[in-house]
This record gives sequence, structure tokens and C-alpha cells, in this order.
Amino acid sequence: MSTARSPQPLRPQPSPPRPLPPQRVPEILVFDSGLGGLSIAASIHRQIPAARLTHVADNAGFPYGNQPEATVVDRTVSLVLEQLARRAFDVVVVACNTASTVALPALRAAVDVPVVGVVPAIKPAAALSDSRRIGLLATPATVKRPYLEQLIRDFAADCAIERVGHPQLVSWIEDWARGRPLPEPALSVALQPFRDAGVDTLVLGCTHYPLVREALQRLLPEVAHWVDSGDAIARRTGALLEASGFQPGDLVRHKSSGHRCLFSGPVMADIDPFLARLGFRQA
Ligand code: DGL
Repeated sequence: MSTARSPQPLRPQPSPPRPLPPQRVPEILVFDSGLGGLSIAASIHRQIPAARLTHVADNAGFPYGNQPEATVVDRTVSLVLEQLARRAFDVVVVACNTASTVALPALRAAVDVPVVGVVPAIKPAAALSDSRRIGLLATPATVKRPYLEQLIRDFAADCAIERVGHPQLVSWIEDWARGRPLPEPALSVALQPFRDAGVDTLVLGCTHYPLVREALQRLLPEVAHWVDSGDAIARRTGALLEASGFQPGDLVRHKSSGHRCLFSGPVMADIDPFLARLGFRQA
């Protein structure tokens, strides 16, 4: 009797576990004429803590509200392209209402990553307002843009919209971030049209403004609803990351730190404490 075993049918062997690919950190580029994009970056960090954020402030071209539209388009496109040549970003966020209302088509045509823009949050404001009287605080350029008229026609046709295009508030906020006081009496005078119009909802139509929301709320205590675009932009950014292959868990797996803030022109160290409070450092 043979002791040789009859050949066993081949059974598929479980393959040894393969090492998981290293987790990729979502890289997000946030662009603004100045520091306002940091208000959007803060919302993105809250919703997508795993993302690594690079904020570019075009301080050499600031403020965009005083620039011809073609200049805003050229500066936005060339500065974003410069950053994309240096690092593989997953999403670009144009965190500037003034640039978004003119530069998005040219930017989207020039880059091959998803681009998110920011426009005044007229739609959510119309959903919140009881009195149907809404205030819009923005730059003089944004309040004049045809894009805004279209937003109002589409989403707030039954509301009265009181617009204040403030020529200096962005510069005051840049100074405030460097430790100088906000000129609240002058700001209060500028906000008077909102009191006169009896608005119950106020749209912050410039990304700089949420940085001083507390002061604005103090000056307009009668306003019930304060609306900005930060959370909606962060949600859209998360959706685009998921569409490009990140799992929802990848976006919240850990908390990234050491976010970078780049400037197109010279910048003083007096901005560093403000950047540090928001988790950024000059790079
Ligand atoms: N943060 C920009 C915005 O949302 C400021 C515009 C400017 O530089 O005039 O519009």
C-alpha cells in the first residue's frame, strides 16, 4: 500500500495582507487678495480638520476692489498657477468675493483641479429673513457686479436688499489683524443704512468681514441673522475632495496643524500673532 498522498486539489491561498497605502492628506489652496481668506480657511479647518491648508494673500495687489477687472483676473490666475506648479493641490478655493465674481471662468479654464468660488450668501439669507429686508455689506466692487443682481433675482426676488459697499473696511481689518484698533465709531456711521432699512438679516459679502463679526454684531444688535459663506464653501470643498477619491473618514482622520500663509508682497512680522491664533505661519 502506497503511503504517498493523493494530490490535493489546489485551493486558492489567502494572500498575505498587503500594506495599506499611506494616507494622503488633502491639500487645499485658499486664495484671497488679503487676509480675508483666513475666515474661509477657518471654516474649512473646522469641517475638514485633516486637510493641510495653504493660504495665499495677494497683498501686492490688495485691495482688489480698487483694481480693474482684467487685473484681478490676471493676478488670480497667475498666482494660483504659480502655487499649482509647486505643490499638488486637490482643491483651489478662491476665498474672495471680488475675485470670484470675475475670475472663476478664466481660472477654471487654466487649471485642472476643482475650483470653488465664493459669492455673497444671498440665497441662505433669503431663507432666514422674516422681515424680507436683508442687508449686504461688501466691497464697492462686489455690490456693483451684475453677478450680484442675478443672485438677487434668482434667490431673493421678494426681498428688499440694502447694499453698503464700504471702501475702507477691508483695509481697516488688515490693520486690525496687525494689532491696530478697528475705528468702530466710523464703522457704526457706515452701517446706519441697515438700521434705517430695518434689516433683520445681514450678509457679510466679503471674506474679511467674518474676522470682525463680533464688532459688527455689537454695532448692529438689532440684526437677528448673520450670514457668511464659510460653512457652505467648506461643505463644497469636502464634497469635491470626496468626488476626487478621498473617503469621508480621510477628511476628519486627524487634525492637521502648521498651515502656511504666503504673501505676494513684502510683509511684516506684526502679522504673526494673528496668523498663529488661526493656526497659520508665514512661509
Ligand atoms: N476678501 C476680499 C473679498 O471677499 C477682499 C476684496 C478686496 O481686496 O477688495 O472680496
